[in-house]
Amino acid sequence: MSDESKKLDEAVDQALLNYENSHPKSLEIHQQACNYMPGGNTRTVIWHEPFPLRIVEAQNAEIVDAEGNRYVDFLGEYTAGLFGHSHPSIQAATREALDGGTNFGAHNHYEARFSQLLCERFPAIERLRFTNSGTEATMMALSVSRYFTGREKVLVFRGGYHGGVFYFGQKNSPINAPFPWIVAPFNNFEATRAIMQSEGDSIACVLVEPMQGSSGCITADPEFLKALRQSCDDIGALLIFDEVMTSRTGAGGAAAYFGVTPDLMTLGKYLGGGHSFGSFGGRADIMGLFDPSRNDALVHAGTFQNNVMSMRNGIEVLEAIYTSEMAEAHYQLGEQWRRGLNRMLLDLESEFQVIGMGSLLCLHPVRGAIRSLEDLKSADDRLRLLLFMGLLNEGYYIARRGFMSLSLVLQESHFRGFENALEKVVRQIESIS
Ligand SMILES: Cc1ncc(COP(=O)(O)O)c(C=O)c1O
Repeated sequence: MSDESKKLDEAVDQALLNYENSHPKSLEIHQQACNYMPGGNTRTVIWHEPFPLRIVEAQNAEIVDAEGNRYVDFLGEYTAGLFGHSHPSIQAATREALDGGTNFGAHNHYEARFSQLLCERFPAIERLRFTNSGTEATMMALSVSRYFTGREKVLVFRGGYHGGVFYFGQKNSPINAPFPWIVAPFNNFEATRAIMQSEGDSIACVLVEPMQGSSGCITADPEFLKALRQSCDDIGALLIFDEVMTSRTGAGGAAAYFGVTPDLMTLGKYLGGGHSFGSFGGRADIMGLFDPSRNDALVHAGTFQNNVMSMRNGIEVLEAIYTSEMAEAHYQLGEQWRRGLNRMLLDLESEFQVIGMGSLLCLHPVRGAIRSLEDLKSADDRLRLLLFMGLLNEGYYIARRGFMSLSLVLQESHFRGFENALEKVVRQIESIS
């Protein structure tokens, strides 16, 4: 092992020890939780070593841990927290839904309006249905595609994440839903086309994220998405965009931004105003299969699909808060901020760079272009950990893997503060490695 590598190992050990010593209450709660949940955890992505922070309170753009430490939240609940933690309009909408009573066991007046707003916002969606999560939305979009086309196989991309049982990282998750998957290389159209041509009419659909969020905000080349559209048409397969994360991109989501119209798309995260939410929708002829007044209707049940909390908040989100104009402005703000961060990192001659799209960003300890998971193979994960721990020490919260999603309640002072903190932490890391 080189001297540099040894020093990095020591720095990681020290950072973990400091964290452990300064979070005794989080540790205590974690140990209790371990008696009842494996690893004290019920949501893999939020876990981090040596044990995760326990958050006890959140207001505006800040979260507070069990020790009473305050952190400015740059994670934004993996994109579901677009409105911060206590947005007055969201709170008022939630109260209104509560006051009207819950669990009707019937259609409610909110879902009609919310679905209209979604169809108007996302041009690819002529008709839609609600689910409880993005994972369920994926499940339904794939299932209806297979039924509609009468075909079996589903083409996805290496690095794609579409929900808890739809994970295609360096390897496929062994507990993926048992669809007959074909996994193609992301952003490599030549290889994808060869697969599509050889598999031909066995492929029901192609499922793609316009930006691979979980793999680190790796944006699809516009030409790649356009070529997928053409190839799907050539072989009669459906094109599905997973926009669970990217629908916040500009006024009409990533499909509109890239100018590519998928047959179906999935939504999730922030659109329920921070409440559980998912949706799938698209072409009226495909979605029409779910019309219950038809003799041959497909069944799609789900107790909480039209729950009044998510439906009422969704209306608030699209009508009053994240309007098309606001979505466009927020996209531009993210683009500008990312460019500024990269200029700073370049000046510091840092290993790190920030990639992403609009308000979705990820810090990576890698130089050079990142167009697929392959390009991240050389990243030293110890640097990611040191960055995460260093930013926590400075009072800034991001994902352990470097992911950030900007909320609407972050202020100028938060951005400047983050930049200073990042500069300080990056300098510390560079002095070790
Ligand atoms: C692109 C993408 N698709 C689907 C999902 C699954 O959504 P949910 O966590 O609501 O099931 C996620 C969640 O992170 C996601 O990022």
